[in-house]
Amino acid sequence: MGFLNEGINEVIATTGGNAAPMGIICRNGTLSMVLFRGSHTEANIRTNGWVVANLTHDPVVWVRTAFDDLPLDAFTPLEAGGRRVERLKECEAWAAFAATVEHETAETAFVTLSPLGEGVVGQVLRAHNRGFAGIVEAAVHGTRYVLSRDPALKALIDHHLAIVRKCGGPREREAAAVLEEYIR
Ligand SMILES: Cc1cc2nc3c(=O)[nH]c(=O)nc-3n(C[C@H](O)[C@H](O)[C@H](O)COP(=O)(O)O)c2cc1C
Repeated sequence: MGFLNEGINEVIATTGGNAAPMGIICRNGTLSMVLFRGSHTEANIRTNGWVVANLTHDPVVWVRTAFDDLPLDAFTPLEAGGRRVERLKECEAWAAFAATVEHETAETAFVTLSPLGEGVVGQVLRAHNRGFAGIVEAAVHGTRYVLSRDPALKALIDHHLAIVRKCGGPREREAAAVLEEYIR
């Protein structure tokens, strides 16, 4: 299981020229993902059969990958478990998994994961920051808000961005401004 914990681990998933925030679910030592159908991540996992979980504390990367694409030079190839995969160039640690779509519904695909390898790139010890946590929360609601324009989601985003402004540093405040542009 490495650095993933029991519960849902929020990571940046890279799948070959693409990155997006995704949850990796760990229950009783079993790893899985639930993918909403139609994303690049879902398409790439079906085609390539692997995913890399990237750990990064850069809030701007969380926002950009939630709503948009990163340039191709943001990725770097690596070999894990005999497979050529790809991670974020700028990350603190990564874990690569073979990924298999086990079953699906009209809206979701359920994917099981088995570890290929993991590594630490430049791990930094950090105190918990509510501003960073607020960016992750606002991004979750934001990806749904752009689809539904539900005012209840907008209220949640505003709540979390208020915490970002109070508790975050300059990079979290920059991420908040980028997020507001994407959801406008
Ligand atoms: C913290 C966070 C966690 C997310 N978890 C998931 C997830 O587990 N499954 C999913 O399908 N989408 C999830 N999303 C939404 C995707 O990141 C979003 O739909 C993204 O635009 C997909 O990008 P892609 O098309 O490049 O794959 C999450 C978003 C955030 C911000």
